[in-house]
Amino acid sequence: RSLHSAVSRGASHLTRRGYATEPVPERKVAVLGAAGGIGQPLSLLMKLNPLVSSLSLYDIAGTPGVAADVSHINTRSEVAGYQGEEELGKALEGSDVVIIPAGVPRKPGMTRDDLFNINAGIVKALCTAIAKYCPNALVNMISNPVNSTVPIAAEVFKKAGTYDEKRLFGVTTLDVVRAKTFYAGKAKVPVADVNVPVVGGHAGVTILPLFSQATPQANLDDDVIKALTKRTQDGGTEVVEAKAGKGSATLSMAYAGALFADACLKGLNGVPDVVECSFVQSNVTELPFFASKVRLGKNGAEEVLGLGPLSDYEKHGLEILKPELLASIEKGIKFANQ
Ligand code: NAD
Ligand code: LMR
Repeated sequence: RSLHSAVSRGASHLTRRGYATEPVPERKVAVLGAAGGIGQPLSLLMKLNPLVSSLSLYDIAGTPGVAADVSHINTRSEVAGYQGEEELGKALEGSDVVIIPAGVPRKPGMTRDDLFNINAGIVKALCTAIAKYCPNALVNMISNPVNSTVPIAAEVFKKAGTYDEKRLFGVTTLDVVRAKTFYAGKAKVPVADVNVPVVGGHAGVTILPLFSQATPQANLDDDVIKALTKRTQDGGTEVVEAKAGKGSATLSMAYAGALFADACLKGLNGVPDVVECSFVQSNVTELPFFASKVRLGKNGAEEVLGLGPLSDYEKHGLEILKPELLASIEKGIKFANQ
């Protein structure tokens, strides 16, 4: 009897602490461009995420194979593959989070803006479908140029009457991932402990890592900070050149995309204090969209946090990035309204 009561005391203890009774909510995540260089490893990582109950893999081609492959992994989510425009509605219906890595990547010598002509149309079409089939989903935009594709998405949603600035995110997590890695190397601190906010946008000088706010603090020389800043700004180009015509970052981007989607899911599920940098509609500067720290919650971007104190070098970087970032934002808005 005493054993029995000890067991039931243990069980009620577990129940009170929520282990046994609070089910993880059902969450559907759709990946658009799921058969691509980013899409495949991102689909794998989302299949490993226990917060996902339904994983919807969409592309214009190749998704039946990717979905069949990923679906054999013995984790929580159901997996379905959708191929071609006629299946896009089914892929999107009921989605809580839609991740968009659809579109062409850079080759050496290209800027992200050189992708605009192809990717702007792809993003516009996909966002038109999102407005129709899952207007309440959180949208994680990966397709480049992010500085323009996010404003395009916003305009498409405004026209459809579904726009909520809290639900649209440009994924700049890879810049943060890079800044952390490069900083840890120079500061000789464990990379897992490092935090570095990265603000602005997602292209060249518009990427502004705030190493003055990096933790753990390290007294790095100014020339080291400049080199770290430049390497973070050119991180994408470093990979494009190393891949020598075979595309841009896919594996590190899949990791970064999975990290950001996980933060969105945690926010939706009510986990407190989920903060990530993202390119969102913003009042932090005079620019209508800007990347900074964002607190994620049940409605998406619950709070867009300010920049905090900047070094003189960062203040200068901020002024330099504004004209280029504004031009990219305006280009996206103009395209969407043509
Ligand atoms: P990829 O060519 O390997 O894959 C792109 C996929 O998109 C392909 O499978 C293609 O079939 C699919 N696609 C094309 N049109 C589509 C449509 N209308 N609907 C659905 N899917 C469609 O390219 P990738 O290396 O995976 O890169 C994808 C995008 O991500 C590029 O624009 C790249 O610049 C961008 N990117 C962004 C970041 C970031 O930090 N935000 C990082 C890396 C890459
Ligand atoms: C990146 O930062 O790696 C991506 O934006 C891809 C690119 O074109 O650099």
